[in-house]
Amino acid sequence: MTQIKKICCIGAGYVGGPTMAVIAQKNPQIQVTVVDINEERIAAWNNADLSKLPIYEPGLDTVVAEARGRNLFFDTNVDKAIDEADMIFISVNTPTKTYGKGKGMAADLKYIELCARQIARVAKTDKIVVEKSTLPVRTAQAIKRILDQTGNGVSYQILSNPEFLAEGTAIQDLMNPDRVLIGGEESDTGREAIEALASVYGAWVPQERILRTNVWSSELSKLTANAFLAQRVSSINAISELCEASGADVNEVAKAIGMDSRIGSKFLKASVGFGGSCFQKDIFNLVYIAKTYGLDEVADYWEQVIIMNDFQKRRFAERIVTTLFNTVNDKKIAFLGWAFKKDTNDTRESAAIYVANDLMEEEAQIHVFDPKVTEQQMLTDLDYLNTRSSEANRKHLTVHQDPYTALENAHGIAVLTEWDEFKTYDWQRIYNKMQKPAFVFDGRNILDRKQLEQIGFEVYSIGAANIK
Ligand code: UDX
Ligand code: UDX
Ligand code: ADP
Repeated sequence: MTQIKKICCIGAGYVGGPTMAVIAQKNPQIQVTVVDINEERIAAWNNADLSKLPIYEPGLDTVVAEARGRNLFFDTNVDKAIDEADMIFISVNTPTKTYGKGKGMAADLKYIELCARQIARVAKTDKIVVEKSTLPVRTAQAIKRILDQTGNGVSYQILSNPEFLAEGTAIQDLMNPDRVLIGGEESDTGREAIEALASVYGAWVPQERILRTNVWSSELSKLTANAFLAQRVSSINAISELCEASGADVNEVAKAIGMDSRIGSKFLKASVGFGGSCFQKDIFNLVYIAKTYGLDEVADYWEQVIIMNDFQKRRFAERIVTTLFNTVNDKKIAFLGWAFKKDTNDTRESAAIYVANDLMEEEAQIHVFDPKVTEQQMLTDLDYLNTRSSEANRKHLTVHQDPYTALENAHGIAVLTEWDEFKTYDWQRIYNKMQKPAFVFDGRNILDRKQLEQIGFEVYSIGAANIK
């Protein structure tokens, strides 16, 4: 069996960084080099101060501390790492296309193709190339064609090994995965490559949890898993509006249906809408692929998950405006949280961005506190929407380092991320310093509604009988 001695991972992001850190920690005999063209990012991964790693993930610092410098390296020399490795992970970003055919829907494979061409140019020995990024079905084939036709005559095996970690729990998910999925070519050399990768994971994952499939099943399973998860959130969010209209309580409904073992209790939290780099992108990918095959009903079915999610974000912003006497013009609205979920500094597709944008259209003054997200990131997120000028975004957004100053004198507070610390704030103190009536819009249903109402707040929760 092929014994892997050196691994290279192209892309030191939210997926590549933590995944390689754990692979290196568990396989001290393998040299793992993570490379990226972004010099600042690599410098941050190499920072002696572990609180300055480029991504925030609970437990990541400990893993990096153990492996970095021993058999885990972060570098900008991509060619060298490719040349030396026997296994290369591609873990670069695959955003939704913002131009041309498939704009707003298809995955932009520009970065993947650039990686493939770079590998083809540099490699002088046989390599196993592993797709880690989420990709449209049949990307492996495209990578293989580029490698075979532009390479130096060495041979390649392409594996699909989608990552299922969720941000905020990445280390836990990597240490104890429900399953590891490896798709490979159905041939002797294909099976050998699969086993080489399986032995890397085998250092800590029981073999029965390592699934071997063909490449297309593996690629499609990743898109399907994310589509199913997102679909659960949109489904419960759809029910949340019905609860608000009818007097049912969405938390009670979620509990009642979740106890049916066929449904299961996880991923049934009603919210202001799902975010993150994966769900929307992967569903768009699925929709685009279905349309490419002429499967319009399939495409329409999954697109509805996104339509519902967009509606949920918009509905939350509209509820803030209507509740605040139909105007938020020049009113201070305080946001607790900007990240797309707790325990991460990632803001990609976060509901907070869209809610802020809608409220800015109504001329509100948004004041934000998030424990991990920087002001620069929030402004970049808003600028990226292209709704108004950068100057206008800066005029309407103020970022605070302290939650209490963010909330002082606010007309309303909106909870956008479920950070635990929000629950333990001194809500009496906050109430005393707010405009009255003091409104709280709990987009994550994390606060103790009864306690807040006793203090005097008027509370809107998702999917509950609410203030009208
Ligand atoms: C359903 C609910 O399961 C039950 O809780 C409720 O009380 C009544 O409605 P039932 O309609 O009797 O029960 O059978 P169920 O096993 O749910 O199957 C419903 C249909 O779905 C069947 O036609 C079944 O063949 C189909 N099905 C079910 C699938 O096609 N695939 C599946 O994975 C499961
Ligand atoms: C997701 C998948 O879970 C993971 O397997 C895949 O590898 C990448 O995409 P991630 O986006 O990091 O992971 O986080 P996840 O926990 O899935 O949350 C996604 C979004 O859904 C968040 O905005 C979260 O707040 C929201 N969500 C999740 C809900 O609103 N309600 C829920 O019940 C669960
Ligand atoms: P993910 O969440 O998928 O990990 P990120 O955007 O966090 O996505 O990380 C992807 C990383 O890949 C970025 O740091 C980016 O600079 C890097 N990258 C993109 N293209 C290349 C390339 N051709 N060579 C090296 N690194 C690349």
